[in-house]
Amino acid sequence: MNINQFGKEGWTPDRIGDLNGKTYVITGTTSGTGFEAARILLSKDAKVIMLNRNAKKSKDTIATLKQELGNHIDVLNIVLDLSIQASVKKAAEDVLKTVPQIDALICNAAIAQVPKQTLTVDGWESQMGTNYYGNWTLQALLFPLIEKSNGRIVTVGSLGYNMGIKTIKFDDLNWDKDYTPNNAYSQSKLAQIMSIYELQDRLAAASKTTIKAYACHPGSSRTNLINSSGSFMMKFIFNLMKLSPLTQSAEKGAYPQLMCATEPILDQGGFYGPTGRSNWVGPVGEHKLEPHAKDKAVAKKLWEVSEKETGVKWNI
Ligand SMILES: NC(=O)c1ccc[n+]([C@@H]2O[C@H](COP(=O)([O-])OP(=O)(O)OC[C@H]3O[C@@H](n4cnc5c(N)ncnc54)[C@H](OP(=O)(O)O)[C@@H]3O)[C@@H](O)[C@H]2O)c1
Repeated sequence: MNINQFGKEGWTPDRIGDLNGKTYVITGTTSGTGFEAARILLSKDAKVIMLNRNAKKSKDTIATLKQELGNHIDVLNIVLDLSIQASVKKAAEDVLKTVPQIDALICNAAIAQVPKQTLTVDGWESQMGTNYYGNWTLQALLFPLIEKSNGRIVTVGSLGYNMGIKTIKFDDLNWDKDYTPNNAYSQSKLAQIMSIYELQDRLAAASKTTIKAYACHPGSSRTNLINSSGSFMMKFIFNLMKLSPLTQSAEKGAYPQLMCATEPILDQGGFYGPTGRSNWVGPVGEHKLEPHAKDKAVAKKLWEVSEKETGVKWNI
């Protein structure tokens, strides 16, 4: 058994000090792990820029946070729809105009288990377009400021990276032939994780050691994920699962992303999440990552395909 570097209880937000003067940009804070991460960062006095698609929900979220933490909290929302590249570009532009530094960009928002193959306005399968290409473009466009801030990029992946096909399906990225909700979701999460490890290699090759990139996941957390985008049957199963001890609170699900965004010394090569049963629940720390997530040839090709598909290149 691995020894957790943070002790028996694993990593907890007690390790976060005063974040006054730090700025965190986080996607998808209207519910689930993103809401909890934003709440905890604000409770430590950080500035938080929330990137959400729904202005009304964002306003309500800010009201809830102010009610709990006080009117003094430093939080604002910028509208971003990850499924629309034009919206991602506009949001990145707005972030760059709004803040002079980003200590961490936390790519938390996602959709999951979309019942039928659906294409985004940019022509990609919806989970790949939202979870992967949306984040790709956001990260690339904010990269110069994150670099200038000696900041971090944190990607919230999923154990799903290992629950679908174990590689990237380059010959049918839109799943025209054999779409299944789980395969398409898992593929988008595998792509998200792979691009983080490829980014690390590219940063190292360019001798850029002050900016860090991390991959983590929330285990199995009681959030809205399946309720917002899954089929009736998936919702039924997921809501039953929420009653079992194999799920944890959304707050605990937020710990891995908070750890990756704030813990001073953390090995970038690791994969972070709950270390208890099946990595669904339990103390947060580093745990095993299956080798296909670091397949160099596939990751390099994925990077090149992503540049071509989005027309967005990283200035590394
Ligand atoms: N819960 C789990 O057990 C689990 C397991 C593995 C991985 N994850 C990962 O954990 C992360 C957080 O999910 P969650 O479980 O907290 O789910 P959640 O409660 O459904 O939260 C997802 C957030 O993403 C936002 N979002 C969805 N589509 C978006 C878009 N096109 N543009 C901008 N924002 C969008 C949602 O906004 P709206 O309110 O507008 O819908 C919401 O704020 C995701 O990356 C997910 O893949 C979760």
